[in-house]
Amino acid sequence: MLEGKRILLVISGGIAAYKSLELIRRLRERGAAVRAVLSRGGAEFVTPLSVAALTGDKVYQELFSLTDEAEMGHIQLSRDADLLVVAPASADLLAKMATGRADDLASTVLLATDKAVLAAPAMNVRMWLHPATQQNVATLAERGLHLVGPGEGDMACGEYGPGRMAEPQEILAAIEAFFAGAAPLSGRRALVTSGPTHEAIDPVRYIANRSSGRQGHAIAGALARLGAETTLVSGPTALADPPGVAVTRVESAEEMLAACQAALPVDLAVCAAAVADWRPAKAGGQKTKKNGKAPPSLKLTENPDILATLSEAGNRRPQLVIGFAAETEKVIAHAKAKLARKGCDWILANDVSPASGTFGGAENSIHLIDAEGVEDWPRLSKELVAERLGQRIAAWFGGEA
Ligand code: CTP
Repeated sequence: MLEGKRILLVISGGIAAYKSLELIRRLRERGAAVRAVLSRGGAEFVTPLSVAALTGDKVYQELFSLTDEAEMGHIQLSRDADLLVVAPASADLLAKMATGRADDLASTVLLATDKAVLAAPAMNVRMWLHPATQQNVATLAERGLHLVGPGEGDMACGEYGPGRMAEPQEILAAIEAFFAGAAPLSGRRALVTSGPTHEAIDPVRYIANRSSGRQGHAIAGALARLGAETTLVSGPTALADPPGVAVTRVESAEEMLAACQAALPVDLAVCAAAVADWRPAKAGGQKTKKNGKAPPSLKLTENPDILATLSEAGNRRPQLVIGFAAETEKVIAHAKAKLARKGCDWILANDVSPASGTFGGAENSIHLIDAEGVEDWPRLSKELVAERLGQRIAAWFGGEA
């Protein structure tokens, strides 16, 4: 299946570099030609000799080596491949990739390439969870970097958590999926709601909330990257439309519901919008004026529940309906009750108390609740929550098919 494919493997510094030797063997067994760039850090963990013996080629190490440049310039090296694989991808190399630095051969090759790049991050759990790394990876994923792993487990440094490099067979599967052109959600239709809603009091005033729309927009982008034909129904936000997504912009909850119903049928729906629960019962046609007497009172009426409506849509119900539960206390208990009340399949519960910084912020701590139980996710950037949810949805449809 990989017969004739040319892989440029970038091995950066990390204890997981030894697994890359196994990866080279497996790639070559499947007929791929592998050429390797070994960073200075990488060479601390595996020797150039063992890499050369396994690739059957010379190993490229220095940016300014006259022989390397004479035989094969770094630009050509990066273009002469069908796919670049970075394994292990250290925190440092990911940071260089995100900011476009090119101060050694590995980073220069990655900046100069016009080919797809697949990275297998590997680092200590705290380095992986650091907001700087999370942001770098999110930036790279948005630019189209393919990611495999990291996995969770015991680490060489004695800690436990996410940061372990994916196993060689997982990296191999990701490489094969790349060449098979397999977008796991291609042929599926997805609907995502995002942002706040604005509920008019009169032509100039409205009721709103602090939702930024970041989580919903990131989910729509991730589903589109996984191949789903994605419609995003968004309340008012300052965010740009995610690439490859059909966006309908709305103001109020009633408009959001109508736009969602117009998007049906879909295979899956993710309701991430912070829909206003109530709206003024009667929006004034003119600006309400002060009249020197008591302030006007606002009579509210309940808005339609979009998530519950989609969950009860009979034969138009999406196969998988996912909601969020924004809670400020008793997060799991309230979210479980919400799952039952709204009739959806999964609820992503998050703590939105002011101390959490979630609402309007850049990160989210998710507990995924379904009929089976509760799955706690580590604190992640909203982009990585979106990536992980996308993978989870793809796996669900994969298992279903
Ligand atoms: N939701 C919706 N339509 C509404 C209200 C909420 O689609 N009118 C969806 C949200 O998009 C989210 C889920 O329902 O996926 C839960 O929203 P949340 O604000 O946590 O709960 P509420 O239903 O508003 O309940 P409560 O305010 O009592 O917590």
